[in-house]
Amino acid sequence: MIRLNNICKTYESKKVAKEVLKGVNCTIRRGELVAIMGKSGAGKSTLLNIIGGLLEATSGQYFLDDLDVTAMTRGTRDRFREQQIGLIVQDYALIGSLTAYDNIAMPLEFRNVPINLARKLIKEIALELEIAHLLSQKVHSLSGGECQRVAIARALIKQPTVLLADEPTGALDEQTEQKILELLQRLKQDNRIIVLATHSRDVANCCDRVLRISEGVLVSN
Ligand SMILES: Nc1ncnc2c1ncn2[C@@H]1O[C@H](COP(=O)(O)OP(=O)(O)OP(=O)(O)O)[C@@H](O)[C@H]1O
Ligand SMILES: [Mg+2]
Repeated sequence: MIRLNNICKTYESKKVAKEVLKGVNCTIRRGELVAIMGKSGAGKSTLLNIIGGLLEATSGQYFLDDLDVTAMTRGTRDRFREQQIGLIVQDYALIGSLTAYDNIAMPLEFRNVPINLARKLIKEIALELEIAHLLSQKVHSLSGGECQRVAIARALIKQPTVLLADEPTGALDEQTEQKILELLQRLKQDNRIIVLATHSRDVANCCDRVLRISEGVLVSN
Protein backbone atom coordinates (compact mmCIF):
# COMPACT_ATOMS: atom_id res chain seq x y z
CA MET A 1 0.00 0.00 0.00
CA ILE A 2 1.14 3.52 -0.80
CA ARG A 3 0.47 6.19 1.82
CA LEU A 4 1.17 9.84 1.13
CA ASN A 5 0.90 12.15 4.13
CA ASN A 6 0.93 15.84 3.41
CA ILE A 7 3.46 15.65 0.59
CA CYS A 8 4.70 19.08 -0.49
CA LYS A 9 7.07 19.89 -3.31
CA THR A 10 8.55 23.28 -4.04
CA TYR A 11 10.99 23.71 -6.91
CA GLU A 12 13.62 26.25 -5.88
CA SER A 13 15.50 28.22 -8.47
CA LYS A 14 17.74 31.25 -7.96
CA LYS A 15 14.96 33.75 -8.43
CA VAL A 16 11.70 32.04 -7.60
CA ALA A 17 10.31 29.19 -5.59
CA LYS A 18 7.49 27.31 -7.25
CA GLU A 19 5.16 25.52 -4.90
CA VAL A 20 3.71 22.68 -6.96
CA LEU A 21 2.39 20.19 -4.39
CA LYS A 22 0.87 21.74 -1.29
CA GLY A 23 -0.07 18.81 0.91
CA VAL A 24 -1.01 15.71 -1.05
CA ASN A 25 -2.74 12.98 0.94
CA CYS A 26 -3.80 9.61 -0.37
CA THR A 27 -3.72 5.88 0.07
CA ILE A 28 -3.46 3.46 -2.83
CA ARG A 29 -3.90 -0.23 -2.15
CA ARG A 30 -2.24 -3.15 -3.87
CA GLY A 31 -4.31 -4.39 -6.76
CA GLU A 32 -5.50 -0.89 -7.60
CA LEU A 33 -5.15 0.89 -10.93
CA VAL A 34 -5.37 4.61 -10.32
CA ALA A 35 -5.37 7.55 -12.72
CA ILE A 36 -4.04 10.95 -11.82
CA MET A 37 -5.54 13.77 -13.83
CA GLY A 38 -5.17 17.52 -13.77
CA LYS A 39 -4.29 20.26 -16.18
CA SER A 40 -0.85 20.64 -17.70
CA GLY A 41 1.58 21.90 -15.07
CA ALA A 42 -0.64 20.75 -12.19
CA GLY A 43 2.09 18.47 -10.84
CA LYS A 44 1.21 14.99 -12.13
CA SER A 45 4.74 14.12 -13.26
CA THR A 46 6.15 15.65 -10.09
CA LEU A 47 3.97 13.38 -7.97
CA LEU A 48 4.79 10.26 -10.01
CA ASN A 49 8.49 11.02 -9.72
CA ILE A 50 8.19 11.35 -5.95
CA ILE A 51 6.34 8.02 -5.72
CA GLY A 52 9.02 6.52 -7.98
CA GLY A 53 11.80 7.71 -5.69
CA LEU A 54 13.38 9.86 -8.41
CA LEU A 55 12.50 13.13 -6.76
CA GLU A 56 12.57 14.07 -3.10
CA ALA A 57 9.53 15.69 -1.52
CA THR A 58 10.18 19.01 0.20
CA SER A 59 8.16 17.81 3.19
CA GLY A 60 5.66 15.17 4.14
CA GLN A 61 5.87 11.40 4.36
CA TYR A 62 5.62 8.64 1.80
CA PHE A 63 5.32 5.00 2.81
CA LEU A 64 5.29 1.94 0.58
CA ASP A 65 3.92 -0.80 2.85
CA ASP A 66 6.01 -0.21 5.97
CA LEU A 67 8.97 1.39 4.20
CA ASP A 68 9.35 5.10 4.89
CA VAL A 69 10.66 6.25 1.51
CA THR A 70 10.97 9.87 2.60
CA ALA A 71 13.42 8.84 5.34
CA MET A 72 15.72 6.91 2.99
CA THR A 73 19.22 8.02 2.13
CA ARG A 74 19.87 8.48 -1.54
CA GLY A 75 21.63 5.11 -1.88
CA THR A 76 18.79 3.25 -0.17
CA ARG A 77 16.27 5.05 -2.30
CA ASP A 78 18.17 4.09 -5.47
CA ARG A 79 18.01 0.45 -4.41
CA PHE A 80 14.34 0.80 -3.50
CA ARG A 81 13.68 2.17 -6.97
CA GLU A 82 15.62 -0.61 -8.65
CA GLN A 83 13.78 -3.31 -6.70
CA GLN A 84 10.23 -2.06 -6.45
CA ILE A 85 9.49 0.55 -9.08
CA GLY A 86 8.78 0.38 -12.78
CA LEU A 87 8.61 3.87 -14.20
CA ILE A 88 7.54 4.89 -17.67
CA VAL A 89 8.47 8.54 -17.95
CA GLN A 90 6.81 11.07 -20.20
CA ASP A 91 9.67 11.23 -22.71
CA TYR A 92 10.39 7.46 -22.42
CA ALA A 93 14.10 7.97 -21.55
CA LEU A 94 15.23 5.22 -23.91
CA ILE A 95 18.75 5.03 -25.29
CA GLY A 96 18.40 5.79 -28.99
CA SER A 97 21.70 4.27 -30.08
CA LEU A 98 20.81 0.88 -28.58
CA THR A 99 18.36 -1.64 -29.98
CA ALA A 100 14.89 -2.11 -28.53
CA TYR A 101 16.10 -5.44 -27.11
CA ASP A 102 19.07 -3.89 -25.30
CA ASN A 103 16.89 -1.15 -23.84
CA ILE A 104 14.41 -3.68 -22.47
CA ALA A 105 17.25 -5.88 -21.18
CA MET A 106 18.81 -3.11 -19.08
CA PRO A 107 16.94 -3.75 -15.80
CA LEU A 108 17.69 -7.47 -16.12
CA GLU A 109 21.40 -6.88 -16.69
CA PHE A 110 21.39 -4.71 -13.62
CA ARG A 111 20.08 -7.67 -11.67
CA ASN A 112 22.45 -10.16 -13.31
CA VAL A 113 19.59 -12.25 -14.69
CA PRO A 114 21.07 -15.17 -16.71
CA ILE A 115 21.10 -14.44 -20.41
CA ASN A 116 18.82 -17.32 -21.45
CA LEU A 117 16.16 -16.37 -18.94
CA ALA A 118 16.46 -12.72 -20.00
CA ARG A 119 15.96 -13.73 -23.62
CA LYS A 120 12.82 -15.68 -22.75
CA LEU A 121 11.33 -12.88 -20.62
CA ILE A 122 12.02 -10.25 -23.27
CA LYS A 123 10.49 -12.37 -25.98
CA GLU A 124 7.32 -12.87 -23.94
CA ILE A 125 6.80 -9.22 -23.14
CA ALA A 126 7.66 -8.19 -26.70
CA LEU A 127 5.01 -10.55 -28.07
CA GLU A 128 2.46 -9.19 -25.64
CA LEU A 129 3.23 -5.60 -26.68
CA GLU A 130 3.54 -6.52 -30.36
CA ILE A 131 7.09 -5.28 -30.73
CA ALA A 132 8.79 -8.66 -31.21
CA HIS A 133 9.61 -7.78 -34.83
CA LEU A 134 11.31 -4.55 -33.70
CA LEU A 135 13.66 -5.95 -31.08
CA SER A 136 16.81 -5.74 -33.18
CA GLN A 137 16.06 -2.23 -34.42
CA LYS A 138 17.84 0.80 -32.97
CA VAL A 139 15.40 2.82 -30.89
CA HIS A 140 16.12 6.09 -32.72
CA SER A 141 14.63 4.52 -35.84
CA LEU A 142 11.31 3.64 -34.16
CA SER A 143 8.08 5.61 -34.24
CA GLY A 144 6.72 7.40 -31.16
CA GLY A 145 4.18 4.70 -30.39
CA GLU A 146 6.79 1.96 -30.89
CA CYS A 147 9.16 3.74 -28.49
CA GLN A 148 6.33 4.01 -26.02
CA ARG A 149 5.79 0.25 -26.13
CA VAL A 150 9.54 -0.38 -25.70
CA ALA A 151 9.47 1.89 -22.63
CA ILE A 152 6.48 -0.02 -21.26
CA ALA A 153 8.30 -3.32 -21.83
CA ARG A 154 11.39 -2.04 -20.04
CA ALA A 155 9.30 -0.99 -17.02
CA LEU A 156 7.37 -4.28 -16.90
CA ILE A 157 10.29 -6.63 -17.42
CA LYS A 158 11.39 -6.38 -13.79
CA GLN A 159 7.89 -7.11 -12.49
CA PRO A 160 7.78 -4.11 -10.18
CA THR A 161 5.60 -3.79 -7.07
CA VAL A 162 4.65 -0.32 -8.19
CA LEU A 163 4.23 0.56 -11.84
CA LEU A 164 4.12 4.27 -12.61
CA ALA A 165 3.26 5.48 -16.06
CA ASP A 166 3.30 9.08 -17.20
CA GLU A 167 0.89 9.42 -20.14
CA PRO A 168 1.52 5.79 -21.12
CA THR A 169 -0.78 5.81 -24.12
CA GLY A 170 -0.26 9.36 -25.35
CA ALA A 171 1.39 8.33 -28.62
CA LEU A 172 -0.67 5.23 -29.35
CA ASP A 173 -3.54 4.60 -31.73
CA GLU A 174 -6.87 3.62 -30.19
CA GLN A 175 -6.48 -0.09 -30.76
CA THR A 176 -3.00 -0.26 -29.23
CA GLU A 177 -4.14 1.96 -26.36
CA GLN A 178 -6.95 -0.49 -25.66
CA LYS A 179 -4.51 -3.41 -25.62
CA ILE A 180 -2.17 -1.65 -23.22
CA LEU A 181 -5.06 -0.81 -20.90
CA GLU A 182 -6.12 -4.46 -20.91
CA LEU A 183 -2.55 -5.46 -20.10
CA LEU A 184 -2.45 -3.00 -17.18
CA GLN A 185 -5.72 -4.40 -15.88
CA ARG A 186 -4.26 -7.91 -15.95
CA LEU A 187 -1.07 -6.74 -14.28
CA LYS A 188 -2.77 -5.07 -11.35
CA GLN A 189 -4.25 -8.43 -10.34
CA ASP A 190 -0.78 -9.59 -9.36
CA ASN A 191 -1.03 -7.53 -6.18
CA ARG A 192 0.62 -4.58 -7.84
CA ILE A 193 -0.06 -0.88 -7.58
CA ILE A 194 -0.40 0.92 -10.88
CA VAL A 195 -0.59 4.68 -11.05
CA LEU A 196 -0.82 6.53 -14.31
CA ALA A 197 -0.96 10.19 -15.21
CA THR A 198 -3.26 10.92 -18.08
CA HIS A 199 -5.24 13.59 -19.87
CA SER A 200 -7.50 11.02 -21.47
CA ARG A 201 -11.03 10.40 -20.20
CA ASP A 202 -11.05 7.00 -21.92
CA VAL A 203 -7.91 5.93 -20.09
CA ALA A 204 -9.25 7.26 -16.78
CA ASN A 205 -12.50 5.36 -17.31
CA CYS A 206 -10.54 2.08 -17.40
CA CYS A 207 -9.04 2.78 -13.97
CA ASP A 208 -10.50 1.86 -10.59
CA ARG A 209 -10.21 5.38 -9.27
CA VAL A 210 -9.41 8.85 -10.53
CA LEU A 211 -7.51 11.37 -8.42
CA ARG A 212 -7.32 14.93 -9.61
CA ILE A 213 -4.54 17.39 -8.78
CA SER A 214 -5.87 20.87 -8.42
CA GLU A 215 -4.24 23.83 -6.69
CA GLY A 216 -1.49 21.55 -5.40
CA VAL A 217 -3.72 19.05 -3.62
CA LEU A 218 -5.28 15.78 -4.61
CA VAL A 219 -9.04 15.42 -4.73
CA SER A 220 -10.97 12.22 -5.37
CA ASN A 221 -13.45 12.33 -8.21
N1 LIG B 1 12.87 20.87 -12.27
C1 LIG B 1 11.96 21.84 -12.21
N2 LIG B 1 12.28 23.08 -11.80
C2 LIG B 1 11.37 24.06 -11.71
N3 LIG B 1 10.06 23.90 -12.01
C3 LIG B 1 9.68 22.69 -12.42
C4 LIG B 1 10.58 21.58 -12.54
N4 LIG B 1 9.90 20.50 -12.96
C5 LIG B 1 8.63 20.90 -13.11
N5 LIG B 1 8.48 22.20 -12.77
C6 LIG B 1 7.24 22.97 -12.79
O1 LIG B 1 6.33 22.36 -11.89
C7 LIG B 1 5.00 22.38 -12.42
C8 LIG B 1 4.44 20.97 -12.46
O2 LIG B 1 5.15 20.24 -13.45
P1 LIG B 1 4.76 18.75 -13.82
O3 LIG B 1 5.71 18.31 -14.84
O4 LIG B 1 4.66 17.96 -12.58
O5 LIG B 1 3.29 18.97 -14.44
P2 LIG B 1 2.29 17.94 -15.15
O6 LIG B 1 1.02 17.97 -14.39
O7 LIG B 1 2.97 16.63 -15.30
O8 LIG B 1 2.06 18.61 -16.57
P3 LIG B 1 1.84 17.93 -18.04
O9 LIG B 1 0.41 17.51 -18.09
O10 LIG B 1 2.12 19.06 -18.96
O11 LIG B 1 2.80 16.82 -18.19
C9 LIG B 1 5.08 23.05 -13.78
O12 LIG B 1 4.68 24.38 -13.66
C10 LIG B 1 6.56 22.96 -14.14
O13 LIG B 1 6.96 24.05 -14.91
MG1 LIG C 1 3.65 15.57 -16.92
